[in-house]
Amino acid sequence: MDKKDDDAGTSYSSARSSSHCMSRRSTIFIVVFLFVVLVCAGFLVHFCWPGAKEPSYPEDHDIRLPRSIFPVSYELWLQPFINGNFTILGAVNIVINVTIPTDNVTLHISDIITKNETVTIHSLHDLDGPGIRIKKQSYDHEKNFYVALLEEALEPGRSYKFHMEYEGYLNDQLNGFYRSSYTRSDGSLVLLAASQFEPVDARRAFPCFDEPAMKATFDIHIARESNMTAISNMPKINTTAFGENSQWMWDHFGTTLPMSTYLVAFVVSDFQHVESNYNDHIKFRVWARQDAINQTWYASKTGPQALSFFENYFNISFPLPKQDMIALPDFSAGAMENWGLITYRETALLLNPVGYSASSHSRVANVIAHELAHQWFGDLVTMEWWSDLWLNEGFATYMAYLGTNSVEPDWNVLDTFVVTDLQNVFALDCLESSHPISVAVEFPNDINQLFDDISYSKGASIIRMMNHFLTEETFKAGLTKYLNVHQFGNAAQDDLWQCLTEQGRADGTLPEHLSVKTIMDTWTLQMGYPVISVHLSRDGQATLTQKRFLMVNTSVSTDTHDYKWWIPITFTTQDSPDFSVTKASHWMPALGSSYVIDGLPTNQWHLFNLEQTGYYRVNYGVENWNLLINQLQDNSSVLSLVSRAQLADDSFDLARAGELDYDIPLQISSYLEAEKEFVPWSAALSNLAYLENMFTRTRGYVALRNYLLGILIPLYNDVGFEDNPDDTHSLQNKRVLAVAWTCALEYSDCVVKSVSSYANWMANPTKISDISDNLKPTIYCTAIARGGEDEWNFAWSQYRLSNVASEKATLLGALGCSREIWILARFLEMAFTEGSGIRKQDATRAFSAVAANDVGRDLAWDFLRNNVMWISNYLQTFTAVSALVTDAASEFNTPLNYQELLKFKSDFSEELGSATYAIDQSIENTSNNIAWMDNYYDYIVNWLHDHGYE
Ligand SMILES: *[C@@H]1O[C@H](CO)[C@@H](O)[C@H](O)[C@H]1NC(C)=O
Ligand SMILES: *[C@@H]1O[C@H](CO)[C@@H](O)[C@H](O)[C@H]1NC(C)=O
Ligand SMILES: *[C@@H]1O[C@H](CO)[C@@H](O)[C@H](O)[C@H]1NC(C)=O
Ligand SMILES: *[C@@H]1O[C@H](CO)[C@@H](O)[C@H](O)[C@H]1NC(C)=O
Ligand SMILES: *[C@@H]1O[C@H](CO)[C@@H](O)[C@H](O)[C@H]1NC(C)=O
Ligand SMILES: [Zn+2]
Repeated sequence: MDKKDDDAGTSYSSARSSSHCMSRRSTIFIVVFLFVVLVCAGFLVHFCWPGAKEPSYPEDHDIRLPRSIFPVSYELWLQPFINGNFTILGAVNIVINVTIPTDNVTLHISDIITKNETVTIHSLHDLDGPGIRIKKQSYDHEKNFYVALLEEALEPGRSYKFHMEYEGYLNDQLNGFYRSSYTRSDGSLVLLAASQFEPVDARRAFPCFDEPAMKATFDIHIARESNMTAISNMPKINTTAFGENSQWMWDHFGTTLPMSTYLVAFVVSDFQHVESNYNDHIKFRVWARQDAINQTWYASKTGPQALSFFENYFNISFPLPKQDMIALPDFSAGAMENWGLITYRETALLLNPVGYSASSHSRVANVIAHELAHQWFGDLVTMEWWSDLWLNEGFATYMAYLGTNSVEPDWNVLDTFVVTDLQNVFALDCLESSHPISVAVEFPNDINQLFDDISYSKGASIIRMMNHFLTEETFKAGLTKYLNVHQFGNAAQDDLWQCLTEQGRADGTLPEHLSVKTIMDTWTLQMGYPVISVHLSRDGQATLTQKRFLMVNTSVSTDTHDYKWWIPITFTTQDSPDFSVTKASHWMPALGSSYVIDGLPTNQWHLFNLEQTGYYRVNYGVENWNLLINQLQDNSSVLSLVSRAQLADDSFDLARAGELDYDIPLQISSYLEAEKEFVPWSAALSNLAYLENMFTRTRGYVALRNYLLGILIPLYNDVGFEDNPDDTHSLQNKRVLAVAWTCALEYSDCVVKSVSSYANWMANPTKISDISDNLKPTIYCTAIARGGEDEWNFAWSQYRLSNVASEKATLLGALGCSREIWILARFLEMAFTEGSGIRKQDATRAFSAVAANDVGRDLAWDFLRNNVMWISNYLQTFTAVSALVTDAASEFNTPLNYQELLKFKSDFSEELGSATYAIDQSIENTSNNIAWMDNYYDYIVNWLHDHGYE
């Protein structure tokens, strides 16, 4: 699944709130938001709509199905009344095999009414007989179980057929088999139905063994009205009449390969499709509502290309005869990798052919690649249980970069990985409230919590690390072996380590004394990550020590675990700088206190962790930092682009953690005046955004602002305000950063130009194409912030009119930029009101936009506290509420803020359940911010003063 991140501000900002990556100024917020998200496709926490409302824990805590029986095949008949009362009439036949004698059939069911008298169980040998008598049928609501107690035992080695008819419901909560609607250009409202099952919602659509390791084949039959189309995982075989009723038809789909329930999918709609024959053995179709069908051009070109790339990369043909991708008007996550039928929210699949931003472009490419990578890693081979979700998601997140790089080689996305995923998750994983990437989970609500940045971005980062330390050849060959061995089955992380170890041994790329498991267990079973300190002696001996990097070392910590990692070491030095060899030259063991490397040249800089391929930070003695600063200032191009980004990020965070004097990162930031590349700028600005956030409500703000404008104006002048779609991707991204920052810092040239472009548009609303898509977030936001009701109303009417999802998302974000409190208050209320014109899936984005606005933040926080029940009822989940807290609290840095958060947590502890994790993060974050203000605010003000900024 791709996390909801693009037009879901909440998700985005909850990922980043505890980090330094987000500025609170709305413009920057939106832009950074769009950029980061788009480029990296995905981070956000799948906080919304997790389906599980409040957690309920069964007494015995065992919610897994009994292992005595398992499904072999399903035959599923569904008739959804989309244009009626939203009932689903269903019937299911499940062939089950028995491993241990048992007197019951237990399977998952939720929000389904069983027709008890229709339930039958027959031995496959005796289908026409009376069947096995059922003693009693019952539900276990806490476990989502349906249990049929039998008069006689089912026998091992035999197969049985379970039959049940039932009634389900097309809900409006974006999970299970749900309903959605959209408005056609002629104004008519059209309904459709789609499915979203990951992780535990297949049981809402049909009774099933809803665990990823319970793989089976599926024969799906869907009844639809004759003016609609049904699609599913497999191609349609034929259509037959539906009894007497000519308005209805049965569509029959081919038998699937063995697969997990969470990957089953169907959509019934009036959508159109375009077909691409790029790939000779796979029929590839992209679906959208008719008014948006011309926005499928990019997906229908890139999808088949990326699919072919993965066929080559994994060296395994795509095993299905077709691949459909569909853009849904209502969708909870970013996208979902259902085998052969990938579902997307519109912004993750569609691109307006007449104009789109570089970030939308990146996002669409990235999400498509992410989902297609899952077709092998996740669908063909599936995790044994949700505890290994990180492997699925981390892998797809990483492979998305390789896939995007193959279809868009000019974008250099492999370089942007460090800023969009690695440094991003560094900022979360340095908190005490982090969690290990591999966690034991049982309950649905806990499973939903796993769809977070740690699984996605840390997962991707440590897989990237492994790719580099094993080398590309070993990594690829090991993966192919793993996929072949476990295809149509399930595997756990140890199975992957096993295949990679064997390959590494065979290729000689892994030291004899080490296995991949020994190394990787230190990264997956422990939370956090290390910082290594390098100290060079006069005779060239480097002594390395490692410790867990924590943003704040609290003396009260109760964590006594001895954190140590197996760390792949790479380095280069000034006399022959070479950043290309990323295979580990040394292994720093997870034992002992220090590790020594001899023979480094002295009196010149050294740099460790090349291309930031290792998931760790590096600190040096002041002497080496100064040599690196000199290099940056004299000729920064000697250092690779990623190294420059790495030095900025490491130094700022080391300083923030009290491990380095702030003078070092501030000196590093001053070289930026001469920096021309996007990646280092992006890394540095993410860090400077933290300073900016903390300074906003202080006297020192002006000095910081002037300092920032001093380094940004050369960049702004270099890239210019005028956008040119023919510019390289990286230049467009740079301009987006420069314009967003200078406008947010109220640089008059930027503000005046933004306000006047918007005024021109208002004067002539049909001429929208005059405003570049890249600069829209900044221009809209700046003009709305500077304007009044007219500017806001104009944006609102354009929001209502637009047929382009990404444009709508941009406008929605900009509507939160107003500085009129009453406008913002009205906007917040609209966000959580049915029929206001803001879709439920976008409510949290509207909230985050207000929360990210200086003027709106306190309003948003009050609104949230005063309306918790209203909001959670509307969103049908408390988890989403905790994500809103994260948004509102991201810049909290006063003791009063801290008290308010504690009170919120205690007031709602019961409702929050396991969603308190996000609140704890906010609380820790706030307390860190308070300490930061105490420790560094004066120091930085003085530094600015000494450098001429008042
Ligand atoms: C919904 O409509 C269908 C078809 O009209 C009907 O068979 C079914 O009983 C209705 N269900 C409910 C709950 O009203
Ligand atoms: C069903 O059978 C399994 C295996 O024999 C057993 O573990 C489980 O407790 C039974 N469930 C019920 C509700 O009796
Ligand atoms: C079917 O069985 C379940 C479990 O015993 C019961 O709760 C439900 O009321 C029954 N439904 C009907 C229609 O009898
Ligand atoms: C299920 O059991 C039958 C024997 O009844 C056997 O032939 C078949 O291979 C089994 N299927 C699976 C998937 O184990
Ligand atoms: C299909 O026909 C039904 C009536 O049979 C109507 O209610 C519905 O709006 C139509 N759907 C579309 C997409 O035209
Ligand atoms: Zn995914």
